[in-house]
Amino acid sequence: MATGSENWNLTVFRDSPAASEATADVVSAAIRSKPDAAIAFPTGSTPLHMFDILAARAARGDIDFSSVTVFCLDEYVGVTVEDPNSLTRWLKEGVLDRIGVKFERLHTLPVTAEDLTAAAAEYEKAIAARGGLDLAVLGLGPNGHIGYNEPGSSAGSRTRVITLTPESRSQASAYWEGAVQIPDRAMTMGVGTLLEAKRIVLLVIGDAKADMLRKTLEDPMSVEVPASWLRIAGPRLTVIADEAAASSLSVMHPGQSAEPEHRGGASRDRSN
Ligand code: PGA
Repeated sequence: MATGSENWNLTVFRDSPAASEATADVVSAAIRSKPDAAIAFPTGSTPLHMFDILAARAARGDIDFSSVTVFCLDEYVGVTVEDPNSLTRWLKEGVLDRIGVKFERLHTLPVTAEDLTAAAAEYEKAIAARGGLDLAVLGLGPNGHIGYNEPGSSAGSRTRVITLTPESRSQASAYWEGAVQIPDRAMTMGVGTLLEAKRIVLLVIGDAKADMLRKTLEDPMSVEVPASWLRIAGPRLTVIADEAAASSLSVMHPGQSAEPEHRGGASRDRSN
């Protein structure tokens, strides 16, 4: 079994707004230090507040996203960007249009290709040609998925088509409009693809994720909880959680700290 150095960082914030702001700070810092950074953003409800903060900063001119390249993390097979239920469309309208990333700077997953396997390999090449991801911001799925790397996904998995679990399809149904059939397959960047990012941020909010965050960080890394593989990234991984999501953690982790105004006696200094 792969082992990580376990020197990743975890910072626990009082609440969702504070955790979202800290995540927005990481994104902002990444772009300030590299204006043409290549980034992957998550979809889902977790990052919504973080996106609002980034949009406000972009509107104020505090941060310029115009040279950033975004790679889509996941998309349903056969679903085009014109489809109201497309994750790419969600990302474009909900985030990229608001922060000023033009559609030309968005790499979409080739989910309508005739040969999906070959097209996924080309997507990997496009990421590599860009020098890899500078930053991958991820959410934690209720079943431990990252992107759509469902349970069963290995640490070395690459961009590919995956069959969605019933749990993920039911989670997705909340976002789908009308009585549509939820696709049973998606294309996702692989765990191995994500692990090569220069920096990874896992944002986890709310008590519904507490047990899964504990498994992600404290159980042995395994295919059962694909997010657990992120620990392999060591210091390149920053986990940002609110207190509710961190409430089931049983041990103080080496890189763990609380937000500055909320630091307890046992906490160590922020190591990044
Ligand atoms: P959520 O989804 O933010 O809506 O909980 C997270 C995910 O599935 O990655």
